[in-house]
Order: sequence, then structure tokens, then C-alpha cells
Amino acid sequence: MCGIVGIVSNKSVSASIISALKKLEYRGYDSAGISTLINGQIKEQKCSGRVDNLEKILFQNPSSGDLGIGHVRWATHGVPNQVNAHPHSSEAVSVVHNGIIENSDTLRNEYKDKGYSFKSQTDTEVITIMLTDFLKQNDLINCIHKTLKKLEGSFALGIIFKDYNNLVVGARRGSPLAVGYGHNENFIGSDSYALKSMTNKISYLDDGNFCILYKEKVEFYNSDKKKINKEIFELSYEDNTAEKGDYRDFMSKEINEQSYTTKKCINEYLNTSKNEINILNLPLEAKKIRKIRLIGCGTAYHSCLMAKYWIEEFTSLDVDADIASEFRYRRIKLDPNDLYIFVSQSGETADTLAALEKCKKNNLKTCGIVNVLESSIARNSDLVLPIHAGPEIGVASTKAFIGQLTVLYLLTLKIAIDRKDISSEEYSKLILDLRNIPDLIEETLNKQKDIQEIARDFIKAKGTMYLGRGLSFPIAMEGALKLKELSYIHAEGYAAGEMKHGPLALIEDGMPVIVLAPKDRFYEKTISNMQEVIARGGKVLMITDDTSETMSENIRFKFQIPKTNSSINSFLLTIPIQFLAYHVALLKNCDIDKPRNLAKSVTVE
Ligand code: F6R
Repeated sequence: MCGIVGIVSNKSVSASIISALKKLEYRGYDSAGISTLINGQIKEQKCSGRVDNLEKILFQNPSSGDLGIGHVRWATHGVPNQVNAHPHSSEAVSVVHNGIIENSDTLRNEYKDKGYSFKSQTDTEVITIMLTDFLKQNDLINCIHKTLKKLEGSFALGIIFKDYNNLVVGARRGSPLAVGYGHNENFIGSDSYALKSMTNKISYLDDGNFCILYKEKVEFYNSDKKKINKEIFELSYEDNTAEKGDYRDFMSKEINEQSYTTKKCINEYLNTSKNEINILNLPLEAKKIRKIRLIGCGTAYHSCLMAKYWIEEFTSLDVDADIASEFRYRRIKLDPNDLYIFVSQSGETADTLAALEKCKKNNLKTCGIVNVLESSIARNSDLVLPIHAGPEIGVASTKAFIGQLTVLYLLTLKIAIDRKDISSEEYSKLILDLRNIPDLIEETLNKQKDIQEIARDFIKAKGTMYLGRGLSFPIAMEGALKLKELSYIHAEGYAAGEMKHGPLALIEDGMPVIVLAPKDRFYEKTISNMQEVIARGGKVLMITDDTSETMSENIRFKFQIPKTNSSINSFLLTIPIQFLAYHVALLKNCDIDKPRNLAKSVTVE
């Protein structure tokens, strides 16, 4: 998604803006641009494609201003070309925007009637025109305030003005914006990660508010243009693992970190001497919870689905998993005795955040499971449970998924023991099994070569299916999502029992099919479904902990995962499905860390 940077300093800012934009590249984007103020004139430079292209433009035609704004754009309104790239400037102002202005068509017509003309197809340009118009008869504060009041939709903005040569303005509604404090310079950025190399002192602009950055101070205003104070946080550098090191790409690094991710997460939550899970202050006492609702998008939704199976397995609670974009608009009977759990790596996903806000408005009890602790979901949840995965840069979520599973599993066991739904003996055994998981993940990670071999089968495939039953079904869904997003091959994740109800018609000679068949209580049924696929010519990649040779002659390839408690096979099944997507994408020369059309942090609806 789009990323914003703004800097006011006592030195030239363009190099710092470029390096902050590079930090935002992971979000996914298709064009980039920068505006600086030089000798009282706005200089705008932008291009389609990567920040590297913009850097080349700046190399040939350097910008020396000591204040400026920069942007990486993920197209929503208008194709990703140079004209639609941000900033959008008039002679008087230059604007970068993240979000969607929902009334842009109406505003466009209104300002066209006033005699203004538009250069781009974007919704953002109306902001430029409105600011330019209001500036004619208003001071700075009133100009910003009046402009923001007319906008509908979501936005984070960075603005510079020709006639105000000592300041940068930031504003937000819906989309996040961080403010960073330096020595004789101050910053805005779409997230604190973009600013991390320049400062660790951060504030977060509240919804509806705006700020004015000067090099020696930052002023904050609420939606009634009243000056307000803001708390400053110090970010820790502890998890500064956002470098690729010797890895080819971030995704392979992040896949390989998953043993560490689970270990760290378990250590953070488990008091080993007492065998207790440190999840305190649940917003609803475990015994009093009526139902649990889990909400997320994409991979985070698959974590929710996994937790649904766990909660059903170990507690007597009713549970539902929902896709956030559906949950936010459904006429769900919201109940104050239910616990609402929001899962999000970034903590900024627009739909998940809106679903959380819906719950907050109804005074419901909420819990956020996030990776980014400073995120909006973390700040708005009654209880925050971090996954401790460190920065995840590859667009395809891997180590965050494993982190989410770890926290959700621990939360399930905590609720189960507090409600006395499981005995203390069973609880101790389950904890012991979980503590072995990091080593078993490590063992599975070492078998990457096996998957590398089989990946060739998928390069020319028209499509593929991932089949699983029970606790393996959410991982089948996740496997299909990973393959789709990374290698652009159509893939479906299906409950194996559903095959006969339609999808079996897709199976034809040579079609690769992935079957997740750990030896759990669903094993025999899954094997029957697998036989039906083989009988119709499907080439099966079976992922299992079954060591017997029974099926060997019929299946194309068997990937062996280590044996563990059948409720947590999902941790181990995850590794080969991630490797498979990775290696197919690699063979197809796809951009592993930045798949086409996708964004890391989906801050628009
Ligand atoms: C897939 C993927 C996405 C995200 C989804 C939610 O690999 O990364 O499906 O899981 O966009 O993002 P977060 O977790 O940041 O809310």
C-alpha cells in the first residue's frame, strides 16, 4: 500500500526521503515520487516503477531543499503511471496521500465548476486543488481544517506549501501516520519502521488530527483545530532484524526464522518454572466467556480458522472465525459476553481495524494479536498479545503466521485450563509438546531440498488443489494462498471431504494436488479422498508424518514431517507449503518479496 514520508530539517532532505521510501517498499507499490521546497519553489519529481528509478532521476537532477515529502504509490484511482504518481502539486502546495477519498468525484466536479483543471486520474488531486483554493482566503490552520472537513473516506497526508518555507504538515483519518523527533529535524512516516534509521522517538497522530512539523518542534491539532499535546514513545531497537543478511530474499530468511519465532514466543508467554501461561487480564474472565469470535484477513484469517479448530478441540466454548471485510458489514448479533479477537501482522489492515472499531463502538471486549506493537489495532484493543516475530518484510506472511499460531494456541490452552475444560495433566502434556515444536520446525526446515525437487511439477500446472481435513484444513487454505500470491498459479484450498461435491471435476491427468494427511483422527478419510484424486490422474504430493510405505507406489512424492501431538501438526505442515510456494515462484522468476499487485499493509478497504 502507499507509503508517506515527510521531513523538515536544517540540511538537504532528499537522500533521507529516498532511504525512508526504500524502507516502505516492502508494503508493495508501483510508482514513487518526491517534492522539495527549493528557493521558495516546489520541485516535484516522480516516476512509475521502483524507488531506484526515482533515485536515478534525482542523481541526474538533484534536489537540495531542506524540507520535503515522498511517496510510494499502490494504485487505486488511475493506472500506475508517472502522471498519477504522487506527489500532486499546484504552484502553491504539494500533497502525498495514503487512503481513498470517497467523495473525490463530487469534489472534482465542484472545483471544475470553479474553473480548476486536473492533470491526473487520482482521487488525491482534489486535495491539492482544495488546499490551493482555501489558501487564497485563509491562514494555514484554517486552510487545512476546512480542507480536511470536506473530505470523506480515509487518508494519511503529507503536505508542503510554497509560502510556508519552514514546515511540513501531516494529517490522518483512518490511515496511520507516525511522527518522529530528531535533532534539528522532524519527520512523518506511514509507519515507525520507515523512520527507524533516523529516530527512535515517535508519536502517533490520532484519528482526525493534524500536525505541523518545524525543524525544532512539532505542533498537534485536534479535529476542532485546537492545539493538543502528544505523548512521545521510545522505540526499542531489540528486534531490528530487518536486514536480509546472506539470504537471497526476505521470504527465505523469514521462513528460516520460524523455529526461533516460535521459541521466542513460547519463552515470552510461558513461565516454565510454574508451567503457567502469562496471559493475564483477559478482558473477559475465561469462565464467563460465552463465545469467541476471531477476525482477520488473508493469512491472519487462516490463523483464526486454525484457532477455531483448537478452541473447539480443547474448550467447551462456541467459536467462529470471520473474514474482517465481511464481519464489519454483517448484521451479527454482537454480545457483551463474547470475546472478540483480532489477528493482524501489521495491526493496520483497514478491514480488521474497522471490525475492531465496530466492536469498540458497541462496548465489546477485544483482544488484538499483532506483530507491530505501535499499530492502531494494538493501541485500540483492550488486551494486546504480541507475536514477537520481529519485522516481517516479505509481502507473503510466513513467520508472522507461525507467531500467530503460537499465541493463539497458548491462548486456547490458557482459556481451557482456566475454565477447567482440560485437566492439569492434559495441560502439562500439551505444553510439553508445544515446547518441542521449535526443534521439530528446525528439523522440517532442514528438508527444504525435498520440496525444491518437486516444485518443478508445478511450473507448467494450470492449477492445483490443497486438500486437508479437520486441523489440516486451515493449512490447506494457507498453502493455496501462498502459491497463488507468489507464483501466480491458480490454487484452491479445500476440505478434502468437499471434493466429491464439485471440485473433483477439475482433476485431470497430471494435475498436481497437495494432500495434507497427518496421522490424526481424520487420516483414513483423507486417504480415501486422496485415492479418488489418484484414480482420476492427479499427481499427489502427500505431506504426512506417516512413515509406512503403504501408499508409496501411487503417490508422486511424499514429504515427511516429524511426529508430534496431532493437535499441533499444523506448525509442521506449514513449512513445506511455504517452501513449495517459494520454490515454484523462484523457478518462475517471480518477485518473491514483492508479488505483483499486492501490498504488505492493506490500509485501504
Ligand atoms: C498473505 C498475506 C496477507 C495478509 C493480510 C492481512 O501472505 O500476507 O493475506 O495476511 O493482508 O494482513 P495483516 O496480518 O497485516 O492484517
